[in-house]
Amino acid sequence: MSFKTNNKVVQWVEDRLPLISMGHHTLYEYPMPKNLNYLWNFGSLAGFALVTMIVTGIILAMQYTPHVDLAFNSVERIMRDVNNGWLIRYIHMNMASFFFIAVYIHIMRGLYYGSYKAPRELLWQLGVVIFLLMMATAFMGYVLPWGQMSFWGATVITNLFSAIPIVGENIVTWLWGGFSVDNPTLNRFFALHYLLPFIIVAVVVLHIVALHTVTSNNPLGIDMKGPQDSLTFQPYYTIKDLFGLGVFLMAFSAFLFWAPNYMGHPDNYIPANPLSTPAHIVPEWYFLPFYAILRAVPDKLGGVIAMFGAIAVLFVLPWLDRSKIRSCKFRPVARIFFWIFLLNGLFLGYLGGKPAEGWYVVASQIATVYYFFHFLILLPVILPMIERPRELPSSIHEAVLKS
Ligand code: HEM
Repeated sequence: MSFKTNNKVVQWVEDRLPLISMGHHTLYEYPMPKNLNYLWNFGSLAGFALVTMIVTGIILAMQYTPHVDLAFNSVERIMRDVNNGWLIRYIHMNMASFFFIAVYIHIMRGLYYGSYKAPRELLWQLGVVIFLLMMATAFMGYVLPWGQMSFWGATVITNLFSAIPIVGENIVTWLWGGFSVDNPTLNRFFALHYLLPFIIVAVVVLHIVALHTVTSNNPLGIDMKGPQDSLTFQPYYTIKDLFGLGVFLMAFSAFLFWAPNYMGHPDNYIPANPLSTPAHIVPEWYFLPFYAILRAVPDKLGGVIAMFGAIAVLFVLPWLDRSKIRSCKFRPVARIFFWIFLLNGLFLGYLGGKPAEGWYVVASQIATVYYFFHFLILLPVILPMIERPRELPSSIHEAVLKS
């Protein structure tokens, strides 16, 4: 329904650029399944985190200096001398972690309820693109304070490209803008760290357009069949999303004000020193499962392929999982394996934080093989053979009334 008002100026604009009608449609009358649980809050929470990161990031950039001789001290100055600089920096640092927490829960929710299945394949794939962009942005952001982990993390990760046959070394030199991680590297990482979040916003807009085209999935995994199955976004989900935001902000504030460095590494408060390698080079916690996969393979190129493969496999997931039933609620076997997959992912995260020696290496190899087994063998081959899904309810409102 198009928006009508007595204000002639607003109506004139609206007849030519229907922004209010579009907003009204997406945030007001848009029909949502009436049975969504709190796991459906994490998309809007991820959106909130993204906006917070951009706003605090822009403020930080006003005092930060991307130069190898000044970067570390400019961050210390933000923490000590700039008015509320400590607050803005701690929000930026901790919200990065909370952004990943929200997105990991968002992804796991999608896996459990089969939200990647037809007709939501492209919506899911856009999500995977966002995830990749988030990882690139977070990696480059971590380099900016120019502490020991910044420098050595950048050195380890950029060096991975040297594993590419023939052109690898040239690519690394090109990425660095020189013959080691140095000032040109820091400068371009700053430029890209500033740029990429806006690209993420653009992909999130596509994500939402795709979502509104195919509508939300729900815990039952069956389609809405009419108005009796749905609720309007306003007031039901606006208030539910706001409530979720309140809880999210309470958890966030606990870290922000009581343990702001809990999720960081102390070595990054030591200025970068190219002549002294830290005992253990570890990335931020949200990269640890992928870091474990990287190190599980003894061959460098093999490790890089496995690490990127672990994300690439998500792109084709909608076609690997052949079950017609979306939600694990009605898939008794898939449900068990979902939890095993989740535990395996957490275990990989634990292993990624340990030194690559002794039984940690063997355990990483087993967990890595299991990760790929889940997607490449269990979902497409084994589950279709052994699983008998439970009967689906005939409609959402029938199931809701029954419970
Ligand atoms: C910046 C990061 C992201 C933002 C802001 C975002 C935002 C949203 C929002 C607002 C929704 C609707 C509410 C909801 O279902 O929770 C949604 C749905 C969805 N998102 Fe994301 N998303 C992000 C990342 C991702 C990622 C990384 C994936 C997967 C790899 C993904 C996959 C999906 C899917 C499949 C749905 C539909 C869920 C359903 O209807 O059951 N999203 N997203």
